[in-house]
Parts: sequence; structure tokens; C-alpha cells
Amino acid sequence: MSTVNSAEPGTETHFGDSDFVVVANRLPVDRDPDGENGGWRTSPGGLVTAVAPVMKAQEGAWIGWTGVPDEDFAPFSIDGMHLTPVTLTSEDVRRYYEGFSNATLWPLYHDVIVPPEYHRTWWDAYVRVNERFAAKVAETAAESATVWIHDYQLQLVPLMVRRLRPDVAIGFFNHIPFPPYELFAQLPWRDEILRGLLGADLVGFQRSADAANFRRAVRGRLGFTTKGSTVTVPEGESLSAHVVRAEAFPISIDTPYLEELAEDPDIVERARQIREDVGNPKVVMLGVDRMDYTKGIRHRLKAYGELLAEGRLNVEDVVLIQIATPSRERLEQYKIIRHDVELAVGRINGEQVDVGSIPVRYLHHSYPRDEMTAFFLAADVMLVTALRDGMNLVAKEYVACRKNDDGALVLSEFTGAAEQLKGAVMINPHDIGNLKAGILEAVEMDERTRTRRMRQMRKKVTTDTVSQWSKNFLAELTHIKRNPEDIVPDRPVTQKSRTALAPDAPAEPSDRAHQPEEAGWAADISTSR
Ligand code: ADP
Ligand code: F6P
Repeated sequence: MSTVNSAEPGTETHFGDSDFVVVANRLPVDRDPDGENGGWRTSPGGLVTAVAPVMKAQEGAWIGWTGVPDEDFAPFSIDGMHLTPVTLTSEDVRRYYEGFSNATLWPLYHDVIVPPEYHRTWWDAYVRVNERFAAKVAETAAESATVWIHDYQLQLVPLMVRRLRPDVAIGFFNHIPFPPYELFAQLPWRDEILRGLLGADLVGFQRSADAANFRRAVRGRLGFTTKGSTVTVPEGESLSAHVVRAEAFPISIDTPYLEELAEDPDIVERARQIREDVGNPKVVMLGVDRMDYTKGIRHRLKAYGELLAEGRLNVEDVVLIQIATPSRERLEQYKIIRHDVELAVGRINGEQVDVGSIPVRYLHHSYPRDEMTAFFLAADVMLVTALRDGMNLVAKEYVACRKNDDGALVLSEFTGAAEQLKGAVMINPHDIGNLKAGILEAVEMDERTRTRRMRQMRKKVTTDTVSQWSKNFLAELTHIKRNPEDIVPDRPVTQKSRTALAPDAPAEPSDRAHQPEEAGWAADISTSR
């Protein structure tokens, strides 16, 4: 194995002693010898879309994997971000990444849409790789640094870092749903995962329901006391007793950047060309997803195909552009979903009599941000039909690009975004009849209604940006670390203290911490086993 590569000659360096450290399975860029950026290309997924702008705006180190096995890379800088690669072997990729992360946790945390697989060898690899990430954090973080760990691939890292470096403030954010206890309880290593997460000072989730699921699991499995969003971890569970906050911080997007792109004359022109390329129909519908079984792409195609077959939509009037980024392609379930989607596209297009009629334009590619923005601008109707999704940034990106307050969003009620984008046409993707009705409603929506609903959603994405999300999270983390007594008993971090720590933090975050939990969890009763 392993030569040490430097990404850009001359930029090789060491980012030890960093005051701010982001830790995620992936770096924001993947190794790609043909990549547009000196042998690197943007990594897939919402995590990178959201966290990269945060990282560009401040000094710090990002620890993660380069997307290729068996190659060591020296730390390097790209696009103003300082990156510290962690090496994964081919076996790590197979067992930790494809296995435990994406064939055990991913399906389990997404409502077991496909059956999760439980293998002890995968778990061993997950522990081993989490240890490697934690060791890298310990050598990179400066005294009393802030360490922000991301997502389900690294749930053991918080406790491991706390053991190695009790001086640092540890935040964890879960980008995907946290499952209801009844599902989580299937996991043979459920207690270890909970203890791992409780090594953090602050654990963030997309929705208050995810945070409540987590706290319920903590009470049910470990018997720790919870009050409001606070969990009390007793002596002996880590180096010392401590309190942890577990609450919702819905993630968002870099709205100002997208708005700027949406006004770029070249991108506006490109959007016009896209419409022309698909025959200038009355309505262009768009789907943009990783090729993942959680995204409901098959359901969307089924609904559209039936509407065409029933004559309720006409291919001259309404076409669908479906972009599906390649994802996790060696995994069986991902091969199956790709096969099914391509079969459905072929079937719908094949049923047309006219040689010029192509109802579905299917693109299995990744595109630069400019091109994605052009697609968002070209689309009259955006279809987000995920069966379960932590947030779904695509929905927010579409809204951010609609600066003219036009366009309609069809949005699955099983996305985190559904709690925020109330102006969308909400649908249950499992109910094909309901999905068809939602598509028709969006296609036929009158202009005034579209404008009113889009304006309402745009207000939300312009107020709640990813920069505010990170400020909120980090201000609260800093406060908890400096003033642990403030959160026992459960006392909200006051705006005064938040502002003192982060002068530019927003006055009152609209929909995150301290909002009442949904009914049923409201009391969050303390229990012990
Ligand atoms: P997930 O994190 O599950 O992939 P999200 O919707 O939250 O889902 O985030 C996906 C991100 O990837 C968005 O920023 C979206 O614009 C981007 N994206 C999706 N498909 C493509 C593509 N084909 N090319 C480039 N970017 C894409
Ligand atoms: O939360 C979104 C996310 O699941 C990230 O954790 C992940 O990095 C991304 O989508 C894409 O998946 P992958 O890294 O497996 O390609």
C-alpha cells in the first residue's frame, strides 16, 4: 500500500494545533485524478454541501477520508480549507464504510426501508476506524479547541476523543434521522453507540423528534436521567460525570451564494437552454437525488408514469428531468435501486408512440454547482419524494434559487425539510394516489398561489442559513463547555450568554433549540433503571 501523496505540490503542511476541528467520514473533496480541481472533485452528499461553506469562512482543520482506499495523503489546503486525510484500507472500506455505516446503520436509521445487516466483523472495523479518527483529532486539536464531529459513520468518536482529550469541547451533529427506539433497539451494539455519542457535550439532530428518539433510547437502555434536552452522564461512564445537551438544530444551505448564482446571466441563459433541450414544454419537473433507495425515485417515476398513461398529464406539456448522482455503487441495494430506476425510465419512455416524445430525461451524473443551479432555475416543479430523509437540502436549494418567487415544490412529509418548508405541496410518497394528486396540484397551481407559497418558503431559507446553523450550534457548544453548571438542571442557554460568545449569532433562532418537543415527548420524564 501507501505512498504519501501531496495534493498540490508546495501546499503540504501539518494542521496540528488547530482551534477548530471538523471531523467527518469524507473530506469535502474526493481524490479523482481527472478531477477539475488539481486531481480532486467535490464529494457527494448534503454534509459536504452544508459544512464546506462553514469551513471556508473560518480557520480550522477538516479530518476525513479521501474516498480512495489504501493511499496515504499528507495534509493539504484546497479552496481555503485545511484538510487532514485519514487513510482507509480496502478492508475498512468494505466493512466500516460499505458494511457497518451503509448496510447496517443507514437502513436502520432510515426506517428499515431495506433490511439492515448485522455482522460482528463490520462492527469491529467500525470501532477500529472510529479509533483512528479519534487519534487524528487528538493530535490535531489545540489545547481547549472546539471539535465538531459529523454523522452516523463516527458515533463512537465523541467518547474516544473525550478520553484522549478531556480539555476540548466536543460537538456531534447527526445529519440523518435518529430512529425510534423500537427500531434502534435491534442494533446489537446499541449501548456502545449511545455511550459513544454521550461523550459529546452537545449532540445535534435535524428534528426535535430525532433528539427525543435519542434521549428515549438513552433512558431506556442506559437508565440515565434526562430532563428537557439534558442528559446527565454519571461518574464512571467516561472520565468524569458530565451533562450532555441533545437537541434539534435543523441544517440549512448557503442561501446568499445560491441566490448570487441564480442571478448570474450565464446560468440564467444555461437554464433557458436546458428548457429548450427538453422541447420547451409548459412544465419542466425536476428530481435531484443521490441514487439511494431512501429518496423515493421509483415512487416518483411510478406516479408520473401513471399520470401519463391515464392521460392526466401530457408529454408535450410536462417533462421530467431526473438527475441521480452515482452513490455507494458496490452495495447490492444500490445496484438494485439503480436497476429499478433505469427499468422504470426505459418503460415510461418506451411506452411513447411518437419518436420525438421523451417524458423522462435521466442523468446519472454529478454536476458542478453552476449547472445544478441552472437545473433548479429551469424547473417549474421540484419533486422531493424521499421515503425518509434527515433534512433534504435539495428542497431548500430549489427554493433558494427561485428568486422570482415562482415554481412549486412537491415535498415528502418524511423529510426534515417538511417541518420548515410549509408552503410545499406535502405528499406521502408511499401513497401513489396521494403523490399523483400532489404532482397534479403543483403542475396546475395558479400563479398567485405559487408566488404566495414560494415567498413563504423563501423567507425561511433566507432567514435560516447554514452560517446561522453553525453559529447557533457552536455558540451553544462553547457555552456548555465553559459553563456546565448552567445546564444542570435543564436551563436554556440564554440569548445573553450566546451573544457574548458569538457576537454575530442571530437574535432568536426561529426553529431550533428550546422549542417545545412534540406531543408525547413533551414531559421527557426522568427515569432510571
Ligand atoms: P444527501 O445528503 O442524502 O445526499 P441532500 O439532499 O441533503 O441529500 O444533499 C444532496 C446534495 O448533493 C445537495 O447539495 C445537492 O445539490 C447535491 N447533489 C445532488 N445530486 C447532485 C448531482 N448530480 N451533481 C451535483 N450535486 C448534486
Ligand atoms: O448526511 C448525508 C450523507 O449521508 C453524508 O453523511 C454522506 O457523506 C453523504 O450523504 C453521501 O454519502 P457517501 O459519503 O456514502 O457517498
